[in-house]
Amino acid sequence: RRALIGGALALALAPLAAPALAADPIVLKFSHVVADDTPKGKGALKFKELAERYTDGAVKVEVYANSTLYKDKEELEALQLGAVQLLAPSLSKFGPLGVREFEVFDLPYIFDGSDALRKVTEGPVGAAFLARLDPKGIKGLAYWDNGFKVLSANAPIRSPDDLRGKKMRIQSSKVLEEQFREIKALPQVMAFSEVYQALQTGVVDGTENTVSNYYTQKVHEVQKHITLTEHGYIGYAVITNKKFWDGLPVEIRTRLDQAMGEATVYANRIAQEENDKALEAVRASGRTEIRTPTEAERKAFIKALLPVHKKMESRVGTATIKSIYEATG
Ligand code: LMR
Repeated sequence: RRALIGGALALALAPLAAPALAADPIVLKFSHVVADDTPKGKGALKFKELAERYTDGAVKVEVYANSTLYKDKEELEALQLGAVQLLAPSLSKFGPLGVREFEVFDLPYIFDGSDALRKVTEGPVGAAFLARLDPKGIKGLAYWDNGFKVLSANAPIRSPDDLRGKKMRIQSSKVLEEQFREIKALPQVMAFSEVYQALQTGVVDGTENTVSNYYTQKVHEVQKHITLTEHGYIGYAVITNKKFWDGLPVEIRTRLDQAMGEATVYANRIAQEENDKALEAVRASGRTEIRTPTEAERKAFIKALLPVHKKMESRVGTATIKSIYEATG
């Protein structure tokens, strides 16, 4: 069925004008930090396939997965310098750029499931957040889903107290820092590429992530216990260098926008499925004990972590937090 849809769209696109085809292909480097076999990794490859097809090869997309081109810290700088054209950093990683709005996505238990989340990312609030990137020379193209986070350590996690005193790896977000401080754990910012080794060598005791990220980085092999808290969210903003994108020939850009739109639908459709599959694979590996919190345990986590919303008002913005409450109502 997908092939039919692709075929119909391809027909709807008029052939590219000769100059666009004659020139050397325009190369888009798409750098990211996760495996190919994740929601983001697959989304990037889908974009490549569609972008190259819809531009009849006038655009070539090179996807660099697993931090092979740039790591967390470097990639945003590389985009601003024009060394890379596409990224999809987690929304938790925009703070250092001075765009704090995205950190609202890190607030624990702010979304009651993915329907609530979509109301933000597919509505005016999400669009307004993306527009905040413009003055930084960055254009936000789309939101891509990963999913809800789980917690892990080498000892069972039944209550927030079980993380007291534990060193927990986090992404570079002040909200995530506060989240772990709130329960007396010791947050430590670290690039994604270093997580496996840090856990293996005991530099940190535990972490949080989506199950697809655990499985594809083999993190579950160095964490004996996972608890399915789903206390927070990981998703991405697909971004490009604004000057570069605005400078593309209009007919090329139109096709790339179309490819991005369809890759976004695809990525968001498979995200949950990929995480479900990863959970089954972790379970099957027998390396990690997976715990589903009881209702009482879930409530204890919510109660312990909810004060973070109030505490982060001055960082993220009271109005920003309110806009999420209202959008998800
Ligand atoms: C992380 O650093 O844990 C995640 O942001 C990685 C990713 O891109 O999903």
